[in-house]
Amino acid sequence: MPLPTLIFATNNQHKADEIRVVLNDLFEIKTLKEAGIVIDIPEPHNSLEENASEKSRVIHQFTKGNCFSEDTGLEVAALNGGPGVRSARYADGENFKNNTDKLLFNLKHISERAAQFRTVISLILDGKEYQFEGICKGRIIDEERGTNGFGYDPVFIPDGAVKTFAEMSMEEKTEYSHRKKATQKFIDFLQNK
Ligand code: IMP
Repeated sequence: MPLPTLIFATNNQHKADEIRVVLNDLFEIKTLKEAGIVIDIPEPHNSLEENASEKSRVIHQFTKGNCFSEDTGLEVAALNGGPGVRSARYADGENFKNNTDKLLFNLKHISERAAQFRTVISLILDGKEYQFEGICKGRIIDEERGTNGFGYDPVFIPDGAVKTFAEMSMEEKTEYSHRKKATQKFIDFLQNK
């Protein structure tokens, strides 16, 4: 039997790959590009929850089908929880390298390095919205290490690990990841429905 299709309201291939590893046997995940949907997805709000909702609702209005989105932020204790919801747009140019450079610069003489990634998934199933949160606690190191992954992965070491996310394979990252934890809640919800 073919798996049911779920549209993932993203064009971030890394996110899609990480979520596919977890949802593999349950759904065929299609990114917007793979579903042939060309749409500018807004992220206008001040919370991950609202942005995740906005993204899934926009795609639901467009497709009328089941879909989900996720919004993730890096929350750094010494930066009062920033860059948080602004993680993608932290530095000029909205690119991963500039964002990471700015983060390291702002933490330069700060010894408090605790941080967490927080993911909020918004699922729209049969027209109703459900949200699932996943948190991965860790710390920011003072230089980039590794080339895998994306975003702030080269400077983040999850609690209990010695490698940065960017030094891990995707399967290793999945053992710790915020995205995996949120996705697991989503699976538990569907299985208990
Ligand atoms: P958004 O959910 O696409 O708005 O993601 C916000 C930003 O957080 C991205 O541009 C990345 O820089 C960063 N980010 C999100 N998820 C991860 C991750 O798993 N590892 C590292 N950085 C991430």
